[in-house]
Amino acid sequence: MANIDSSSRDGFTSKFGVIAAAAGSAIGLGNIWKFPYEVGNNGGGAFLLIYLFFIVAIGIPVMLSELMIGRKAQKNVFGAFKLLAPHKAWRLVGVMGVFAAFLILSFYAVVAGWTLEYVYLAVTNGLANKTPEEINNIFDVFMSGKLIPVLWTLLFMLLTALVVLGGIKNGIEKYTKVLMPLLLVIIIVLDIKALTLEGAGEGLAFLFNPDFAKITPQVILSALGQAFFSLSIGMGVIATYGSYIPKSQRLGNTAISVSFADTLIALLAGIAIFPAVFAFGMEPAQDEGLVFRVLPNIFNQMAGGSLFQVLFFLLLCIAALTSSISLLEVIVAYMSEELKIKRRTATWATTGFISGLGVLCVLFSSVFGAFVFISSNVLLPLGGLFIVIFVGYVLKQAEVKQELEAHGGRFNLFKVFIFIVRYIAPIAIGVVFLKGIGVIDLIL
Ligand code: PHE
Repeated sequence: MANIDSSSRDGFTSKFGVIAAAAGSAIGLGNIWKFPYEVGNNGGGAFLLIYLFFIVAIGIPVMLSELMIGRKAQKNVFGAFKLLAPHKAWRLVGVMGVFAAFLILSFYAVVAGWTLEYVYLAVTNGLANKTPEEINNIFDVFMSGKLIPVLWTLLFMLLTALVVLGGIKNGIEKYTKVLMPLLLVIIIVLDIKALTLEGAGEGLAFLFNPDFAKITPQVILSALGQAFFSLSIGMGVIATYGSYIPKSQRLGNTAISVSFADTLIALLAGIAIFPAVFAFGMEPAQDEGLVFRVLPNIFNQMAGGSLFQVLFFLLLCIAALTSSISLLEVIVAYMSEELKIKRRTATWATTGFISGLGVLCVLFSSVFGAFVFISSNVLLPLGGLFIVIFVGYVLKQAEVKQELEAHGGRFNLFKVFIFIVRYIAPIAIGVVFLKGIGVIDLIL
């Protein structure tokens, strides 16, 4: 790729390549596992509405800010702040991002491990012809075994490391281009089946009829955290990918397409899950096992369901893999480009360490829960807050405009973007965060 720096960082082969990779990072367990679970626990429709508002009003501008920082600096997050920021303290944002990557990958690998187990179960017909109670039990028995979840976690981390070491960029591009649309098709098939189940209407009402009485500061913070988590923003993944985007490409379009695709997949996952939850007489507010307890029941009622089930969980694993490699890549890029540690060494050391944390997540559900909460609801929103402040106040507006328009023509929404980045996003993130964790109540 001609206009990308020619150091050891490998670029993407086409314009679509980076969009595919960024979408690959964004689309993953966050959409299909975490989103329904958050909706279920935070009251349904009202959460969804706030979530969608945050995606548009905060998520897309933060994603654009990150893409811009990365492309301008042509570096990993830490290096980008080192290069662009006048004061050393800004590098802490990069450090925070690397730290967030550690936490996220630790529990992410565990859930990806559950997905591997479900591929195995689906292939060996372990889920077919089972009643909803039996399906529910299968998850509990699997989780209480501990050893098997640990082994799957380790296997998933190994796969992640191997892909990262194998020169990832072109790989992701090829896979996402074909397999993500296929995942989309299977989810749509699931939707159609779920919507025809008896009692589906109740699920749709839960998902789409907002009950505003359910909104609390914690619900709002969870919606913000979920928006950040699902879009992979606030910790540097998107900045790192932004550094590979050719100057001729319009970043605004990239941010919008990726966010659109990500939100579509989450919504479609919700449309499959909630009708089924009600149809099978289950509760929407459940533990992290929600999708694993619900989805097999839909496949079991479907013609050709076994095959779809295998494909679905397999594609979900691959979607998780294209996200986990983006997380590992942030850490490895930081260690190799900034700390000058060899990529191989950095990759294996990080993989080993995260595998250890992953085992802790399997053994102690409190560690798992804390990692999920701290990363999505604390570190990502804070990272996003610093990123918008940086773009809104530290960088010169003319520079920002130039980078956003670089060779790609006008960016019509520039004024709106700057307004959001300077005023709306910092205030909204600040208030939601402080209120959500209870700081504002302590002060006032
Ligand atoms: N967005 C990914 C998902 O939805 C998870 C992720 C979060 C990946 C943050 C990278 C950074 O599954």
